[in-house]
Amino acid sequence: MILGLLKEYGTETRVALLPETVKAFIDLKVEVLVEKDAGNLAFASDADYLAVGAKIVSRPEVFDKSEVLLQIQPPTADDTEKIKATQVWISAFNPLWETELVKIFLTKGITTFSLDLIPRTSRAQAMDILSSMATVSGYMAVLEAASKLPTFFPMFMTAAGTIRPANVLILGAGVAGLQAIATSRKLGAQVQVFDVRSAVKEEVLSLGGKFVEVEGATEDKAAGGYAVEQTEEFKKKQQQAINDHAAKANVVICTAQIPGRKAPLLLPTHAVEAMKPGSVIIDLAASSGGNCELTKDNETVVHKGVTIIGQSNYPAQKPIDASRMFGKNVQNFMKLIIGEEGELTLNFEDDIVKGTCITHKGELYNERVKSIIEKA
Ligand code: NAI
Repeated sequence: MILGLLKEYGTETRVALLPETVKAFIDLKVEVLVEKDAGNLAFASDADYLAVGAKIVSRPEVFDKSEVLLQIQPPTADDTEKIKATQVWISAFNPLWETELVKIFLTKGITTFSLDLIPRTSRAQAMDILSSMATVSGYMAVLEAASKLPTFFPMFMTAAGTIRPANVLILGAGVAGLQAIATSRKLGAQVQVFDVRSAVKEEVLSLGGKFVEVEGATEDKAAGGYAVEQTEEFKKKQQQAINDHAAKANVVICTAQIPGRKAPLLLPTHAVEAMKPGSVIIDLAASSGGNCELTKDNETVVHKGVTIIGQSNYPAQKPIDASRMFGKNVQNFMKLIIGEEGELTLNFEDDIVKGTCITHKGELYNERVKSIIEKA
């Protein structure tokens, strides 16, 4: 197989494979073409890639010669034109939302895999890029909140008096939320947590957070560990409880999401207005609409003294470790499609290969994407 590693666009600093992971592919008898300067912003030079046996080529050459094209971001319209039906495109292109892009892949007959749809099974855990990137985001959200907050996170007992610890409210205890709890606790804050899945209570408690229970949440085992839409009655009860806790919080970290849908609105404007001036909200759900009504994606808004940060790409602020984790996930996934002689083998009997494949030879493979496109 010839694997082409593309340079990311715009302000993205990560790269899908660092040289250490490229070496693992070369050991699997894969030829790796790396676009010139692909790793620069993640502090990996062309010389580092050359040293592990990759070839450095131009972007047109990567498109021309690779069997499999790999980058983190979805392709631009221009790049979509360049991909051939005989090639395999691997990235994280959010097919549950980007249905127009999926239709282009379908029409062109391109084989595509979207790493954000790796099934949530035990066997696939080591391939789960969403977990890896959520770990970075949860950590960074807390560090950013701590640096923007006009008060300290930990309790300080000093000769100048006692400083009370910060109160952090975390909405959603998935991978990002759990990391945010751990990081907040390490910095000495008091942490309260809301989630609609009761299964996370034990994890929240074990990390030193307080789980705020609201009775009557809807859970669905068939949702693969994800949250589902809640009833109006539950939403009302939960809203009141969140309002009460937000009014006492110094920091709110929003992480609540429902795959393929707009993020639930958990912090309406009136709840933000009841918060103390100087408080900070970090909304990790910004790209899917945000949990806070005032969030603007990739912008910082100050409303009546409360700072609301809608940041969707914290992983780009930690490019080395984020690329390292991303690359390791890609490596674990791609082992499933690399044969003994380094050749491409697409075994759709494998549930992970089938579940992550979005389009192949003009057919829609992923059931969730299929149902969204068929309903539209
Ligand atoms: P996510 O990013 O989809 O959502 C974040 C959290 O928000 C979830 O815990 C969700 O329950 C919560 N949430 C959604 N709506 C809410 C609402 N209205 N109010 C309060 N909270 C709300 O979730 P993430 O981090 O992707 O993980 C979801 C689950 O998948 C977790 O149980 C995680 O352990 C599991 N998982 C399993 C993997 C595997 O087995 N390979 C890999 C990664 C995660």
